[in-house]
Amino acid sequence: MTGRFITFEGIEGVGKSTQLRLAADYLRARGVELVVTREPGGTPLAESIRELVLQPQDEAVDAVTELLLMFAARATHLGNLVEPALARGAWVLCDRFTDATEAYQGGGRGVPLEHIRVLERIAQRGRRPDLTILFDLPVPQAMARSRARGAQTDRFESEQAAFFERVRAGYLAILAREPGRVRRAEASGSVEEVAQVVRGLIDPLLEARG
Ligand code: TMP
Repeated sequence: MTGRFITFEGIEGVGKSTQLRLAADYLRARGVELVVTREPGGTPLAESIRELVLQPQDEAVDAVTELLLMFAARATHLGNLVEPALARGAWVLCDRFTDATEAYQGGGRGVPLEHIRVLERIAQRGRRPDLTILFDLPVPQAMARSRARGAQTDRFESEQAAFFERVRAGYLAILAREPGRVRRAEASGSVEEVAQVVRGLIDPLLEARG
């Protein structure tokens, strides 16, 4: 049986990476062979692209450039890490995937969705997550958490509230459109409360595995 592909999404400050680590512990304790990865990144080339796309640049980085870099990283990550893992039956937990492109480059930067769809078809060859957990918080709360965590460094973290409002709206639009695949996790609770919600979303996949 091929593995399961689960993605974690949300704006900065919602606690998604912490929850991904906890979900990984939970699955490993149940004997699931697991690959934990992230986008952009996950393979050496994709991590190099991550550095390029996140670090502040001396020249303007337009939305199309950003979009193509995200998909370039995604294509090599899928081909060299995600697909081989799923094929051997491992589960893949991925911190962000194409919904982030739709929310950030689409919602945040205004890239037309049909451009994203074209690149999705080319880069993913039909691969989509089995389950996507969207960690959701109002933007002011998420930004306060993100600020409390440390200095703003990368090109996205230095964006203003209005940008993150558009990104969040982009995510909520995906949730409304695909309520079967995408599940909302209210992120305002404690780490343990949110982790319990996550386990509740993952358990049906574990049960289906038998
Ligand atoms: P991270 O901080 O969650 O690791 O994500 C890195 C940044 O990259 C984050 O600000 C969101 C952004 N991003 C996009 O804009 N588009 C994408 O397709 C992905 C995967 C991430």
